[in-house]
Amino acid sequence: MSNMNTPSSRVLCKCLQGKIMSPEQAAALIFSGDNVGMSGFTGSGYPKAVPVALARRIEAANSAGEKFRIGVWTGASTAPELDGALAKVDGVEMRLPYQSDPVCRKRINAGEMEYIDIHLSHVAQFVWFGFLGKLNVAVVEVAGILEDGRLIPSTSVGNNKTWLERADKVILEVNSWQDVRLEGMHDIYYGTSLPPDRKPIPLVHPQDRIGDLYLHCDPDKVIAVVETHSPDRNSAFADPDENSRLIAGHIIEFLHHEVKKGRLPKNLLPLQSGVGNIANAVMAGLNHGPFENLSAYTEVLQDGMLDMIRSGKLISASATAFSLSDTALEELYANFDLYRDKIVLRPQEISNHPEVIRRLGVIAMNGMIEADIYGNVNSTHVMGSAIMNGIGGSGDFARNAYISIFMTPSQAKDGGISCIVPMVSHVDHTEHDVQVLVTEQGLADLRGLSPTQRAKVIIENCAHPNFKPALLDYHKRALDHSFGKHTPHLLDEALSWHQQYLTTGHM
Ligand code: COA
Repeated sequence: MSNMNTPSSRVLCKCLQGKIMSPEQAAALIFSGDNVGMSGFTGSGYPKAVPVALARRIEAANSAGEKFRIGVWTGASTAPELDGALAKVDGVEMRLPYQSDPVCRKRINAGEMEYIDIHLSHVAQFVWFGFLGKLNVAVVEVAGILEDGRLIPSTSVGNNKTWLERADKVILEVNSWQDVRLEGMHDIYYGTSLPPDRKPIPLVHPQDRIGDLYLHCDPDKVIAVVETHSPDRNSAFADPDENSRLIAGHIIEFLHHEVKKGRLPKNLLPLQSGVGNIANAVMAGLNHGPFENLSAYTEVLQDGMLDMIRSGKLISASATAFSLSDTALEELYANFDLYRDKIVLRPQEISNHPEVIRRLGVIAMNGMIEADIYGNVNSTHVMGSAIMNGIGGSGDFARNAYISIFMTPSQAKDGGISCIVPMVSHVDHTEHDVQVLVTEQGLADLRGLSPTQRAKVIIENCAHPNFKPALLDYHKRALDHSFGKHTPHLLDEALSWHQQYLTTGHM
């Protein structure tokens, strides 16, 4: 372990000290048409200076009548200084694999920016396979550079290993705001290979360490080192509202029932929890629930999981990124010794790896936009055509989980839209990958049920009373008049609920 206590001591590698330059100088080394692999996963570990400098450069090019656009590849969502800044100046030709930025979203939905929404576990291998084209530049935030050039990863790992290996040129942002005690928390697995030579991933418990503490990068590829001192940007979570508390309650009751039936051990199986307030509320519910000695194998570590480590409920957590509010981050560093050995951050190709998720038997809990009466789930599109965020890791986990749970309030837009509909307007998770649906109204356990049996349970347990009669009526008429009786539908009516909302603002 190194000893990096002052901002000026963060670049210890002599051969890289000579490459220290300003963000503007580094941004000048990126060219229009480049595909740029940036670090960042939620508001953690993203480069804070070069993208902003690049946005200024693009703006200047725009003013001079030149078109300057790049491909932006990341771990997942980032922050306004990256996605927001580049989208604002219309500098992004292609964005992948996930975003949740309002400016980006607006451009994508206006048809002004191309976007590929990719399972997060697929990204690294797609780059290695060559499916996404050439990666020209990597811009990666690290917490420090050791004497021998090894890199101390930051608060997210994401696809950084792949970016550093695959990019022709590398720009490192060394952020002295990141706590040096992050050193030692990561586990960077360098054992992946390509088919037909792939080997099993030797990870059998969530807390297993199978890789290196550091990221590696050929110093000859490093074209710039930029020193920064800027905070991550993660928003605070809302206190759980009544709906979130009810959803959490239904899930905990369900898990309790599964333990009683002998289908889950007393300490459950590793938990995966999606992003957002509801997911955070479920963690808060579990923190006050009956289960002990829990573990997590998940994508982001939010406040709720940190609380569970503090209370002793959660004994280990594996993720690819922190996604903590400022208060939670303060708590992490104030009581670091409590957390350090219980948390591991890995590349997202491992945190989200289907093989590992299936082996561990993860309990997956993710948010959704809507589900239909047969259990198909839409996580990404509003009214079938406007992207919200992206599939993120939800598919990696849902498809391979021991139990896959999707949750949402039963209605959206102040009661204007039912989140349980006859037919989803876009499918991310098919009926085959969805075992449990939960709303504040109740929980539908779909395991072992045929489509028509599922429809009855979903409408009865999950739909809001305002929409239940119309859903029951639809299902009855579909049963009577459908072309086939296996998954009964009235095709000309199935999506009319969405159309009606678009026309009248109310279903
Ligand atoms: N129809 C139309 N809009 C809907 C809707 C529906 N059925 N359900 C939700 N929305 C809108 C909400 O009104 C809100 O819009 P606003 O931002 O304009 O107010 C927005 O979608 C988000 O909904 P919210 O209730 O705040 O839910 P959330 O924060 O729990 O997010 C998802 C829900 C589905 C958007 C979110 O979970 C997601 O992006 N999931 C996909 C990625 C994922 O699962 N990642 C985790 C894997 S590890």
